Amino acid sequence: MQNTATVIAYGREENGGLALSSSEIFNTTITGAAIAAAVDLGLMDELESSGEVSIPAFCRAHDLDIGCIVQIVRALTSCDIANLDTDTNIVQPGRSFQQVYADKGYFLWLVGGYGYALQHLAALSQNASTPADMDDRSFVKRDGRMVSAAAKQYGARYVDREFLAAIEPCKNEMIADLGCGSAARLIEIATRNPGVEGIGIDIDQNAIGLAQEMVRSAGVDDRIQVVCADIRKLEPEERFAPVTVLMSSFMGHDLWPKDRCLQVLENLQTCFPAVKRFLLCDTYRSDLIPSKQVPIFTLGFELLHAVMRQQVPTRSQWMELFAESSWECVSTRPIGIPYSVIFELRPRTATV
Ligand SMILES: C[S@@+](CC[C@H](N)C(=O)[O-])C[C@H]1O[C@@H](n2cnc3c(N)ncnc32)[C@H](O)[C@@H]1O
Repeated sequence: MQNTATVIAYGREENGGLALSSSEIFNTTITGAAIAAAVDLGLMDELESSGEVSIPAFCRAHDLDIGCIVQIVRALTSCDIANLDTDTNIVQPGRSFQQVYADKGYFLWLVGGYGYALQHLAALSQNASTPADMDDRSFVKRDGRMVSAAAKQYGARYVDREFLAAIEPCKNEMIADLGCGSAARLIEIATRNPGVEGIGIDIDQNAIGLAQEMVRSAGVDDRIQVVCADIRKLEPEERFAPVTVLMSSFMGHDLWPKDRCLQVLENLQTCFPAVKRFLLCDTYRSDLIPSKQVPIFTLGFELLHAVMRQQVPTRSQWMELFAESSWECVSTRPIGIPYSVIFELRPRTATV
């Protein structure tokens, strides 16, 4: 029998040797955690806005342990993200700072959102860890607030511009955001369009807490409500009846496998009978062979969804599903996140 399997191995020949030494692998692992901490503590933002930070002053202002912060900064310097003057303890951006600053949301997502899964990767790989109820993924603890805060950061950088271009014009629409997370995108749209009203729906109570805070502080709580609910189990409600636009970012894959996702998409038209369009933005499976060319995010996204026993569809699997559904995919728009796209869907019966 002919063997058609692909051997997945790092391209040593093209690289002339090992990809990375053990010390480089160890040190970059530490640096990933240090970046997430520096983002969470506001150190990255302060470096970006002020151009330099005095570690003693920063620690006094935020009640932080100076020894810890110096070591976090030393980890950043090991990857050229920061430069540290050891006499004054003043830190400045290094040559890689801007690149890492742009991508900071991914580090917060990986370490802050899914640190538990990384720590327990071996135990979670056991068949014994697979839950009987596949709708219940709480066996992989994640920090919903961090996941939402991270999505807000990488979203602002790599998604919002394309998303706003796709959704406009939306002068007097009622928009429901499925898996709204922090609701940042809904708030942005409502702030730009005073006639817009919205409903953010998310399964995670911590994400809903963050969304409520953000809606209030943006002063749009008279126009945006947030609801804690599972999109897979939605039922028609009076408040859903006027919704004309559905949107969803980075949640669609959570609805798979295919038959289940198909059912949920059909049910959306029942729950939102006035809907005219649906902007579904998501990351799809890359099927890349691991190498240095794999972009940021992809390897982590695919690993963590495997740990959660969550199938991630390919782009063509999404298209096959739409073809079988009562949603027509009328266009696709690329966004700045690897292997991610906005599918623009319309109900097949809709007259536009
Ligand atoms: C990666 S976050 C994206 C958040 C937000 N859409 C954004 O782009 O900033 C995915 C969100 O979908 C939510 N989610 C996942 N499955 C869900 C479900 N079945 N029902 C409602 N929300 C869900 C998660 O709790 C999480 O807040």
